[in-house]
Amino acid sequence: MSLLAVRDLFVAFGGIRALDAASFTAEAGAITALIGPNGAGKTTLVNCVTGMVRPGSGNVTFDGRDITGMAAHRLPRLGLARTFQHLRVFGSMSLLENVMVGLHGHVRTGMLSSMLRLPGVRRTERAMRDAALQALDFTGLADRADEAAGLLPYGDQKRLVLARALVGDPRMILLDEPVAGLNPAETHEMGGLILALRARGVAVLLIEHDMSLVMRVSDAVVVLCSGAKIAEGAPGEVKRNPEVVNAYLGGGEEFGLHA
Ligand SMILES: Nc1ncnc2c1ncn2[C@@H]1O[C@H](COP(=O)(O)OP(=O)(O)OP(=O)(O)O)[C@@H](O)[C@H]1O
Ligand SMILES: [Mg+2]
Repeated sequence: MSLLAVRDLFVAFGGIRALDAASFTAEAGAITALIGPNGAGKTTLVNCVTGMVRPGSGNVTFDGRDITGMAAHRLPRLGLARTFQHLRVFGSMSLLENVMVGLHGHVRTGMLSSMLRLPGVRRTERAMRDAALQALDFTGLADRADEAAGLLPYGDQKRLVLARALVGDPRMILLDEPVAGLNPAETHEMGGLILALRARGVAVLLIEHDMSLVMRVSDAVVVLCSGAKIAEGAPGEVKRNPEVVNAYLGGGEEFGLHA
């Protein structure tokens, strides 16, 4: 059974069909890339999977459980985390606090015990800080845990949001364009982190336009075009698929066709 299965999703925004019978699966412990030209529906699909857009029809299962339309805040506890195409970093908060936001929805301490700061609450707080520090360490940011996130360079902020997605120990992370705007060295480093996630057993759904990254790290590639899947398979296969080449025409350079 696939870890994530998306079946026949339809989403319309006014007259625009953002998703048109979109279906695909992603396996546990694997890196699955979701690629496609601008406007193909990739972000909309992730928004459907994470309860931020309700599909007109179709369904989504995660680990065999129907999560279609499930509220976004319930998903991390089921083991599904995400990052956003637009970063959502809280600039005035520290790196540590930004990562601890990712534990919201994992921890339940009653209002009264929080107010009284009972020992159990203090233990929970310490455990949350430790988990956040570990996630920061994974992304190479632990030594700046107490700095304000807004002062970080953009490339470091991209790693910060990855730490936030990782902190709750998810089974799968959805990454919406993790290397957009990064320089080649930062891109390479992020590729290493994505591979390290897989090595920890975390499955990744990678939305990216950077084809050399996609080709380097992916186990499987799914191609979306005009809201529907037009191809899927191993990276090398998909790259040679005529329908895919056609969908990217005009963007051939970007797809690495001249490589
Ligand atoms: N909230 C919205 N309201 C209206 N139209 C939308 C909305 N969100 C997306 N769309 C439209 O739906 C289509 C799919 O958009 P989506 O953002 O999912 O594409 P994408 O594949 O993520 O593109 P990109 O690679 O540029 O990020 C586009 O035509 C877009 O203009
Ligand atoms: Mg997008």
